[in-house]
Amino acid sequence: MTRRVAVLGATGLVGQRFVSLLAKHPWFEIALLAGSERGCGRKYGEVVKWVLEEPMPSALGDMVIEKLEPERISKEQVDIVFSALPPEVAVDVEVELAKKGIVVVSNASPMRMEPDTPLLNPEVNADHVEVLELQRRIRNWNGGIVKVPNCTTSILTLSLKPLVDEFGVRRVIVSSMQAISGAGLTGLPAVIIADNLVPFIEGEEEKVQSESIKILGEVSEKGVALNKEIKVSASCHRVNVLEGHTLSVFVELRRSASVSELVEAMKEFKSNKIKNLKLPTAPLNPIIVRNESDRPQPRLDRFEGKGMSVVVGRIRRDEEVGLVKYIVLGHNTIRGAAGNGVLIAELLVAKGLA
Ligand SMILES: NC(=O)c1ccc[n+]([C@@H]2O[C@H](COP(=O)([O-])OP(=O)(O)OC[C@H]3O[C@@H](n4cnc5c(N)ncnc54)[C@H](OP(=O)(O)O)[C@@H]3O)[C@@H](O)[C@H]2O)c1
Repeated sequence: MTRRVAVLGATGLVGQRFVSLLAKHPWFEIALLAGSERGCGRKYGEVVKWVLEEPMPSALGDMVIEKLEPERISKEQVDIVFSALPPEVAVDVEVELAKKGIVVVSNASPMRMEPDTPLLNPEVNADHVEVLELQRRIRNWNGGIVKVPNCTTSILTLSLKPLVDEFGVRRVIVSSMQAISGAGLTGLPAVIIADNLVPFIEGEEEKVQSESIKILGEVSEKGVALNKEIKVSASCHRVNVLEGHTLSVFVELRRSASVSELVEAMKEFKSNKIKNLKLPTAPLNPIIVRNESDRPQPRLDRFEGKGMSVVVGRIRRDEEVGLVKYIVLGHNTIRGAAGNGVLIAELLVAKGLA
């Protein structure tokens, strides 16, 4: 069962999460770390500016960082590559690796909206993994590229899934309060975000709107068909929080539901899609519902389910406007990035695709 894996962009924020999750993983073994010119040829422990709450895995401190060149990465060396690269760097490298027969699980945005490319949030749409076969056929690859959704989108769609299944959803309006870590290790200078809020994140609203209806879509002969029955409108904002994206969500349902029915649907959601697969990173409860009027809060709730659960609170109905509304919080570099990436890789292994 053991698979040898590589992490590209291993020194970044998402890369560090991958390293931390994979170092103690029962199925995966880190065989290669790759990064930018800055670190290549040097020891990981000497190059990385480790910022996670738990110590850097000591066994990896001496691993030498490889130069990011697809020709240096072979199928004999690694079975699965986790990519935590910036989009412009990822785009060609990932395709080259897929051509070489390697399966790439990527956090970078290019290709997320391609119909033949699985965009997976496993509890929501694990069945979309089957389009990987179509991708291999169309593109003549032996490997493949599977995408991890945008962080806000992963958190949103997980919370929406029970509502879509139980009551039907017509419209979603979401306003996000996104953590600083979402912008990467060097992304947002303190002088900009300290004591502040930035009401714009480039490209984010478009990603939430388009990726959500792909994740909630269905597999067709031509790949994943978007769910055009659901309209999503997003407004995205950066706030002075280290980790954990909080979303204020307003939903128009197709069938009316009481608050207790909504709470029940969220609490009981276990995901038929993966529950029998016993994936090590799948949280017992993907959605945790809090009853207190002042929860969820990022500092208190972001590590629920080891960062893989989303936490929902303040579920209520607005009778006047005809919407239900709630707050959902999720850990952006775990549920929204590396944790979801590891869960996807487990799904691929369980399905015999990697
Ligand atoms: N942060 C989040 O919450 C989040 C959530 C979802 C998706 N994502 C996506 O995940 C990816 C990584 O995000 P991040 O937040 O971890 O960014 P980050 O902290 O800036 O890390 C980027 C990583 O890529 C490496 N890199 C940069 N340029 C390179 C090059 N030319 N060649 C090789 N390696 C290069 C960096 O190496 P050096 O350290 O040597 O510069 C670093 O390891 C991005 O595509 C991002 O959009 C991030």
